[in-house]
Amino acid sequence: MGAVILALQVFILPVFSQQPVTVRVMMQALEAQQWQPLKANFEAQNPDIKLDIVAGPNDTNLVEDLYTSAFLLGDSPYDLIYLDIAWVPKFAAAQWLAPLEQYVSAAQLDDFLAGDVAGGRYDGQLYRMPFRSDAGMLYYRTDLLAAAGYDPPATFDQLLDISQALQESGAVQWGYVWQGKQYEGIAAMFVEVLAGHGAFWIDPDSLEVGLDAPEAIAALEFLRATIQNDISPPGVTTYAEEETRRLFQSGDVAFLRNWPYVFALAADSDLAGQFAIKPMVHAPGEKSGACQGGWGFGISATSRHPEATWRVIEYLSSTEAQRDYILETGYVPSRIELFNDPEIVAKYSHYPDLLAVVQNSTLRPPIAQYAQASDILQRFLSTALTDQLTPTAALEAAAQETRALLGRAG
Ligand code: GLC
Repeated sequence: MGAVILALQVFILPVFSQQPVTVRVMMQALEAQQWQPLKANFEAQNPDIKLDIVAGPNDTNLVEDLYTSAFLLGDSPYDLIYLDIAWVPKFAAAQWLAPLEQYVSAAQLDDFLAGDVAGGRYDGQLYRMPFRSDAGMLYYRTDLLAAAGYDPPATFDQLLDISQALQESGAVQWGYVWQGKQYEGIAAMFVEVLAGHGAFWIDPDSLEVGLDAPEAIAALEFLRATIQNDISPPGVTTYAEEETRRLFQSGDVAFLRNWPYVFALAADSDLAGQFAIKPMVHAPGEKSGACQGGWGFGISATSRHPEATWRVIEYLSSTEAQRDYILETGYVPSRIELFNDPEIVAKYSHYPDLLAVVQNSTLRPPIAQYAQASDILQRFLSTALTDQLTPTAALEAAAQETRALLGRAG
């Protein structure tokens, strides 16, 4: 008996303890695919850790719902949480994330975009390490605009006028495509149209709601006009990012609102060399709005492997891993130096300009009730865009519900 126990201790237990630890993460299917080279590299360098990537749906709020259910059920099966910047306040307020300050110094954070770091904080604590940043942009067809003698549009009206002219001449079937589906993407897109009209959604400090201001109503009227005037296809009210990207890439559209990830994919399509990217249009006298998006890493508060999870984060946050990933995918870095990195600029010459857009982008209101506020906005935008309410009625109702949510009724 004693010999058996000894044998167990000497031979078997060390084998068990050398089993690699598994760190599990879930993310949008498109990106789960793109992470494979990172996973292979990390595992080759860290044989004691396995990175298990679970592919989820492509809409950010659907992935958020899956994480939310996992946390509500108790022990989350995920160690690494790949977080949209928009989820941080909710996840942090619910105490689903471990604070990260013990792992990373203020000096190390200085290398990342300030907005991305700020978006990872809640109540003064850091809960998310930035990975890839994001900011909404306008894509336009350089070939068609040049042939018809137009400069890229600066204002909403110019975008409508050029669209209509190109449609009438038969150059394209559609003028402008954007994300009009009832999901998180419509809220992100609307933040830009609001900012471009000098309007706002919720002031995170005062909790004032700006949705029923005349400028906000004008913002929604612009979107509705694109559908009513056949500048946007009727199906736009069901499109998320990928549907709009595919339509733009088909060559039948003059303008597209989307995130910078589209650039590399479109540059690899028949549209190569025929499009460019610029800050979003705005009303005369106002400035371009860009919604700040982006993804980063958190550690589940219930993970049994926080140290191993941090090692994954450390690797993915390194300059080298980020550079490899950006070169491969065309996503936006969160490390400031990479916007001017010679290898990246050689492949994507627009990155130095992108830095200014990202640095001036607008965060969606970082409040704990963000998911509910976004849900209200998504519902009422959709109601107006599908002609069930006028823009004024829809935004007045949305403002009222949002004020009630924030405890500011009356
Ligand atoms: C992009 C952004 C993210 C945003 C989402 C909306 O993934 O990075 O922040 O919430 O699009 O669809």
